[in-house]
Amino acid sequence: MYYTIEKNNQINRSLNENGLTVIKTLIKIKDINNTKIKVKKLLNSPKYLGPAFNVKLASQNKQTQSKLKGVAREINYKLSSSILRKGYKYYSKLTNSIEILNPLLNFSQLNNYVFHNDVIAVAKKYLKTNDPKILYVAMRVHFPNNISENDVNFFHCDDRSFVTKNKNKLLKLLIPFHLKKRIKIEFNQLIISKNKMNISKKLFQSLQYSKKEDFPKKFRKYFIKPKLRNQDAYFFNPDDFFHNAEKPKNLRIMVYIVFGKSNSYLARKAKLIKINIKYFKQLSVDQKKFGSLLKKV
Ligand SMILES: [Fe+2]
Repeated sequence: MYYTIEKNNQINRSLNENGLTVIKTLIKIKDINNTKIKVKKLLNSPKYLGPAFNVKLASQNKQTQSKLKGVAREINYKLSSSILRKGYKYYSKLTNSIEILNPLLNFSQLNNYVFHNDVIAVAKKYLKTNDPKILYVAMRVHFPNNISENDVNFFHCDDRSFVTKNKNKLLKLLIPFHLKKRIKIEFNQLIISKNKMNISKKLFQSLQYSKKEDFPKKFRKYFIKPKLRNQDAYFFNPDDFFHNAEKPKNLRIMVYIVFGKSNSYLARKAKLIKINIKYFKQLSVDQKKFGSLLKKV
């Protein structure tokens, strides 16, 4: 389950068997340090931030409490820009996470990983296509606080349908930028796919946004927390394998990159992802094909 990025065959095998592969020492220390510094700056500037939801308020109201077990955007209480202007030390007590917009423009060092030739090779092999595409890139910061859990804190499959269509098969690459020596990754995954769990559609649906204790006992042995160190990244299959992210003990900085096929349902979202046109122009033919759906600005 732990390989360096050029071990294409082993990475693919682990992805198929466990739904997960940890890529050892992919990220340069310099890129990690620069990213961390800039993230803390942008968190205090609302124009760089996506919408955030007032989880604290939602948890205090019986009607909205149930929305915490679901995608965050279903919570109706948004944090206003005047709250965001008070800085993340303040608003991180009200919400569990926030998105930093346009990561490929604001963190140009990410491009080297998104367009890494060995990453493209993994996507080709795993998705079984010569023409895989970058479909989505996002940066999200999760906060340590004592408000209720919500959204990704619960176990879920990104695709909530019982069987994921082949054309919609996705591969996610997650890059953490916050791991220190003694900080473990907050990520957990079941290493058995939804179709091998042999459960009813009804049980499958009731396990969306659930806790470990909600799973039948026979699945306990499949829960893993991969051992990740600073500079590591990981690929996983987000649709067929249940996963969650526990609330962090320190600021958790994650970049999510999604690869898939050009006819995937996500392809329409790719054109919202902005990339620097000058950077794009100097890429190889193969890299340009990989990023062809992105918006060049
Ligand atoms: Fe997820």
